Amino acid sequence: MSGYRTGTGWDTHRLVSGRALILGGVSIPSELGLEGHSDADVLAHAITDAILGAAALGDIGAHFPDSDPRWKGAGSLAFLKYAVELAAAGGFRLLQVDSTVILERPKLKEYRDPIRRKLAETLGLPVDCVSVKFKTAEGLGPVGEGRSAEAQAVATLVK
Ligand code: C5P
Ligand code: MG
Repeated sequence: MSGYRTGTGWDTHRLVSGRALILGGVSIPSELGLEGHSDADVLAHAITDAILGAAALGDIGAHFPDSDPRWKGAGSLAFLKYAVELAAAGGFRLLQVDSTVILERPKLKEYRDPIRRKLAETLGLPVDCVSVKFKTAEGLGPVGEGRSAEAQAVATLVK
């Protein structure tokens, strides 16, 4: 049996005024930001679930419940780092992450490399093993209407 494991992650958060838009730990200038208990970093949350999924370690809510004071006010990069450590404790090393953020506006292209660098640093990966893609929802559904953002991620681990 191959020692490779793949996990997927998905997340969504509402877009509201008066909140920061933080994606992959990078603060992006925007009229609207993501609502949530944490910093609502939808991209970090999707990648965290992908890593936990690859190691069959449950999901983000199982490890980082809103009720746990340990994580109160924590930036979502702390979740990511902890997921990598949990996987490592189970004998898994993270090899690669691919991800997509679906957001109508603002345009995110110019933030791709800063986000990749921040994620790579947090995950302990070379930057060329961290992929971040962006899509609009073409005006369709809550994402397309600018009411929310989504993120999807895939992570590969090796035992
Ligand atoms: O959704 P659509 O196919 O129109 O996106 C085209 C390109 O626009 C994407 O491949 C991505 O490079 C860029 N994009 C972006 N920021 C977004 C959405 C898309 O930079 N919020
Ligand atoms: Mg989330």
